[in-house]
Amino acid sequence: DGTKIRELLDLEEGYISSRVIGDPEIHQMEIERIFSKVWVPIAHESEIPNKGDYVLRYIGNEEVIVSRSEGGVINVVLNACTHRGSPVCRSEMGNSSHFRCPYHGFTFKQNGDLIGVPAYKEAFGDAFDKTQYSLVKARAATYAGLIFGTFNDSAPPLEEQLGSLKWYLDMMLSHTHGGMEVIGVPQRWTVKSNWKLGADNFVGDAYHTFMTHQSAVQLKLVPSGDPKFAFYGVHVSCENGNGLGLIGAPPEYELPPFYGVPQNIVEQIEQKLTPEHQKAFSRLAYIHGNIYPNMSFGYFSWATEAGKNPGSYLTLRQWVPKGPHEMEVFSWVLVEKEAPDWWKELARETYVRTFGSSGMLEQDDTEMWKNITRATKGYIASSKLKFIYRMGIDRKPEQGDWPGPGTVYQGDYSEANQLNIWRQWHKLLTENNE
Ligand code: FES
Ligand code: FE
Repeated sequence: DGTKIRELLDLEEGYISSRVIGDPEIHQMEIERIFSKVWVPIAHESEIPNKGDYVLRYIGNEEVIVSRSEGGVINVVLNACTHRGSPVCRSEMGNSSHFRCPYHGFTFKQNGDLIGVPAYKEAFGDAFDKTQYSLVKARAATYAGLIFGTFNDSAPPLEEQLGSLKWYLDMMLSHTHGGMEVIGVPQRWTVKSNWKLGADNFVGDAYHTFMTHQSAVQLKLVPSGDPKFAFYGVHVSCENGNGLGLIGAPPEYELPPFYGVPQNIVEQIEQKLTPEHQKAFSRLAYIHGNIYPNMSFGYFSWATEAGKNPGSYLTLRQWVPKGPHEMEVFSWVLVEKEAPDWWKELARETYVRTFGSSGMLEQDDTEMWKNITRATKGYIASSKLKFIYRMGIDRKPEQGDWPGPGTVYQGDYSEANQLNIWRQWHKLLTENNE
């Protein structure tokens, strides 16, 4: 079926069959060949700061328990009992040294080891070897405070998968001494959209802003609603499908460096980040991108004409696949840990109004993706309709004065990053064909 996949994409010419969105067979391949193979971002360290803390998350469509045990060790295990499959943890978050299965009472340590079986001698006899019945364990790794998990024992190290995206994660998540922290709990909601539409949008689609987010453009809330903004931006395609777009303000806006960022945070940025990082970060109004496969991010400083009092925040959003035509969105808001309280509150409010579940920008987007998923489901659409990925296709990579790594394209109106995602998708689906 590698050939079948190959026939759906013409990445050189920039065409992709709409069948890639909602085909159930392809969806199952994604679960097996992408989500079960690569490192998947699932949480932020600040969500489980203390020993015993845990949250429930998803690697692909599998529910996992992400927990912190002795010595700060992070564990990721499948939330399904080895006896008969009952979830052993039924609360979304909490603090517990153990998980006791509600069905027959098997008890597991946070790292998945089975340590208790009710009446085990009478029930199973002396030969019952508990060490063989641990919960299914995933590998866990962190970068810049983000927690990743994978069930693939032979996946290369996380840092290799992230490649030059690491530089940008350092800039957005590790630019202060204490790093970023999640405010509250993630907002969650279900959208009848395929998960890939979220990733495809966030990694590179600055072009939809003036149309989809027309109302925000009219209110001057969206920097890239001013078409000039997109010209002061770059697309950066990183290794393994990772990518991001970074937009600065046009010079005539005459914004000071680190516009609106609290002074104590600016001081820390100057101490912690490299000069290249600082050069990039100080001029940025808006960063959007995707950590492959399904964690998107937006760093928004709202440094617009209208944004006299900008509330900047970082949002992370995971597009959890719930079948070919549905996803659950997990949406976090993060701020600098050492930021003053008024700033954190401003950031949170700004997030709620913009990219929270009821935020005006969020609702605009998911409406589109839901409709696309519906419109491309049919036999005719999936056999005759090809998506056009030709924006900027003749543009060569060009570093310009951009100080960061990755393959750089000038201008944020481009489909370079989207093609980069599809290249990785194609690679994983054809390579992991065993
Ligand atoms: Fe968990 Fe039986 S299903 S103890
Ligand atoms: Fe959008």
